[in-house]
Amino acid sequence: MLSRLARPAAVLCRGLATSAQNNAKVAVLGASGGIGQPLSLLLKNSPLVSRLTLYDIAHTPGVAADLSHIETRANVKGFLGPEQLPECLKGCDVVVIPAGVPRKPGMTRDDLFNTNASIVATLTTACAKHCPEAMICIISNPVNSTIPITSEVFKKHGVYNPNRIFGVTTLDIVRANTFVAELKGLDPARVSVPVIGGHAGKTIIPLISQCTPKVDFPQDQLEKLTGRIQEAGTEVVKAKAGAGSATLSMAYAGARFVFSLVDAMNGKEGVIECSFVRSEETESPYFSTPLLLGKNGIEKNLGIGKITPFEEKMVAEAMAELKASIKKGEDFAKNFK
Ligand SMILES: NC(=O)c1ccc[n+]([C@@H]2O[C@H](COP(=O)([O-])OP(=O)(O)OC[C@H]3O[C@@H](n4cnc5c(N)ncnc54)[C@H](O)[C@@H]3O)[C@@H](O)[C@H]2O)c1
Repeated sequence: MLSRLARPAAVLCRGLATSAQNNAKVAVLGASGGIGQPLSLLLKNSPLVSRLTLYDIAHTPGVAADLSHIETRANVKGFLGPEQLPECLKGCDVVVIPAGVPRKPGMTRDDLFNTNASIVATLTTACAKHCPEAMICIISNPVNSTIPITSEVFKKHGVYNPNRIFGVTTLDIVRANTFVAELKGLDPARVSVPVIGGHAGKTIIPLISQCTPKVDFPQDQLEKLTGRIQEAGTEVVKAKAGAGSATLSMAYAGARFVFSLVDAMNGKEGVIECSFVRSEETESPYFSTPLLLGKNGIEKNLGIGKITPFEEKMVAEAMAELKASIKKGEDFAKNFK
């Protein structure tokens, strides 16, 4: 069976007829990194993408030369260093940003703030100037702060559109689907668990009660499963023992999100993904919930829906941390020059 990732993008695309529908111009900023390289490979492999521009402060000529030999139609070009960034962004429909340092054992995502906040602010400033209409997908952590930073940067430049700025939390959904499938002996490609809230520890809130197909767990197993989903990133950080955090599964998740977005931009109906976005669904000004995507980004926020008292408690307990991380990002962006 085709995976979720292969489904929208079809299989390999030799001889694929080009149509006006499949002409997404996508930029990856941080393209030489652990996430950036496999993500760029998956994007290059998709018939949805016609132009792939790769930016980093190192190694992009090599990554681009390598990818450009693959027999798919996306035109690949590498851009190196800040003076080449504007050219990388011009005309882009979608910009994906996995630039920045990853966690090492013992670190929280918030520990990355000092380095990654300015990287994200710098890159999104360039996006606001050179492709203000593009969909901006931020992977760089801490996502709970880097999305508010991006919003503030776009506001500063007078080009803010909350329907086009996304915190990529798809890996939490991918993990939840996989872990539920493992426990229940299901095909993971057929499991769908919404994950709401934010993208750090207790702010990651899987809604197992809304899983399709419907699954039931005794409370102790439910709590263990929920904890594993929340700490799955740390599981990878520990296993990599200092060599970084999730890269391959994140590349898969990032590509899944971009393909959903591009499908929706191309007019496909009923495309739903969870993402950390500007939100009025709770008292937190940014919050992830399932979103109906469309030609212009978020078409409709589908909200939290019916949840259990256990899930309600998690939402309530996430609020303080979410609001603090959001404020930290907003304060940083206000002082960023
Ligand atoms: N959203 C998620 O679910 C999720 C999951 C895993 C990792 N992450 C985050 O993704 C980020 C990248 O992780 P990684 O493992 O690929 O790290 P990495 O160190 O392997 O790669 C980062 C890349 O960013 C580049 N970079 C640094 N500063 C830059 C700048 N100013 N402009 C352009 N590029 C720059 C580096 O040269 C490097 O190639 C980290 O912040 C990590 O925490 C997010």
